[in-house]
Formats: sequence, structure tokens, C-alpha cells
Amino acid sequence: MPKTIGLICGSLRKNSYNRIIAQSLTDMSDAVQFRWIEINELPLFNEDLEIGGDPETVAAFKSAIQDVDGIIIVSPEYNSGIPGALKNALDWASRPPRSSVLSRKPVGLIGATPGGLGTAFAQMQIRQILEAMQTHILPFQKVLISQVHEKIDSDQKILTDEKTKRYLERYLQQFIHWIDHTPVLD
Ligand SMILES: Cc1cc2nc3c(=O)[nH]c(=O)nc-3n(C[C@H](O)[C@H](O)[C@H](O)COP(=O)(O)O)c2cc1C
Repeated sequence: MPKTIGLICGSLRKNSYNRIIAQSLTDMSDAVQFRWIEINELPLFNEDLEIGGDPETVAAFKSAIQDVDGIIIVSPEYNSGIPGALKNALDWASRPPRSSVLSRKPVGLIGATPGGLGTAFAQMQIRQILEAMQTHILPFQKVLISQVHEKIDSDQKILTDEKTKRYLERYLQQFIHWIDHTPVLD
């Protein structure tokens, strides 16, 4: 059985650069199957909503995470931080604490921006949040894609910059390796 990787895009925008970057990963390895895991229909997190059981969209979102071997999040940065829609999705996925679908899940993190700092601030926050959820986030490697608008073809919605492609290919190989070698710490 090939490994499965879920792709979560932190932007809800139709022509999102981050979605184009995430899509580019799907052509980079025959060893894995990719599945999009969407966050746009999740309600705003509210503990009251959990009382009667997870709403349908939340239950589907959690089981999509459960069913994949790893997750790669590709996200923009908003106001030097994590986009609200992504934080909302991660809060839903974090429940119940300690035994959530994200607990021990291998996670990779990529970010792209037309700006110069490659979503560095957002990624610091996302790492901190994922640590709290006890995910196994790929350590050390960072993918900070700056000036992304110059690296893609917006009409065809494809990544064109060869250097970025090679970097992403290497990151994907490292992430696949990470899925196999993620530490078992109980
Ligand atoms: C509310 C808001 C805040 C933003 N803040 C930042 C920021 O802090 N750093 C940054 O690099 N870009 C920032 N941007 C610009 C985004 O990087 C840009 O809109 C990008 O295209 C969003 O990603 P997407 O194309 O995947 O939707 C911001 C955009 C919005 C709408």
C-alpha cells in the first residue's frame, strides 16, 4: 500500500499561491498518494458544539486526518501569524486532547508569500501550536517561499521556478522518510 499524505491549505482564496504550491507536490512522487483535506466548511470552534457530538463536517475532517499517514500544511501568513481559518481547523482537530487525530501524526510545514520573509513568523506560531497537540512535526527543515508570485504561472496555476521545485522535492523525500522514522514516544 502506498503511503498517503493529506494536504491542508491555510488559505481559503480561490487563486491561492499556497494551494498552487501544495498542488505542485502531488506531481513529485509516485511513492505516495495525496488527498486534499479542506477546512473551508468547518464551523467556528465552540466547545458547546462538541457536547452533542462533532458536527458532520468536523467528524469528516477528523476522519480524513486519521486516515492518512502524514499531513503537509501549506499556509500563508496573516499579520505575522497563523491564518484564523487554519487555527480554527487545528483547534477542532486537537480534540479530545492527548488522544486527538493529530497526536503523534507526522506533519510537514510549508509557507509561501509574495513578501520577503517566506511566512517565517506564521511558521513559528504553527510549530508552537502543533507542539501543543503533540504532533510529530518534521524538525529542522523549513520551507519559506518568498516572492512566490514570481515563481509561479498564475494563469496555468503551476509552480515554474526550478530551484523551488528541487527544494520541495527534497523536502517531500525527507517528509516521506520522517513518516517511516517518526519516533515512538509514549
Ligand atoms: C489579512 C492579511 C494579512 C497579511 N499579512 C501578511 C504577513 O504578515 N506577512 C506576509 O508575508 N504576507 C501577508 N499578507 C499577504 C499574503 O501573503 C498574500 O495575500 C498571499 O497571497 C496570501 O496567500 P494565498 O495566496 O495562499 O492566499 C497578508 C494578507 C492578508 C489578507
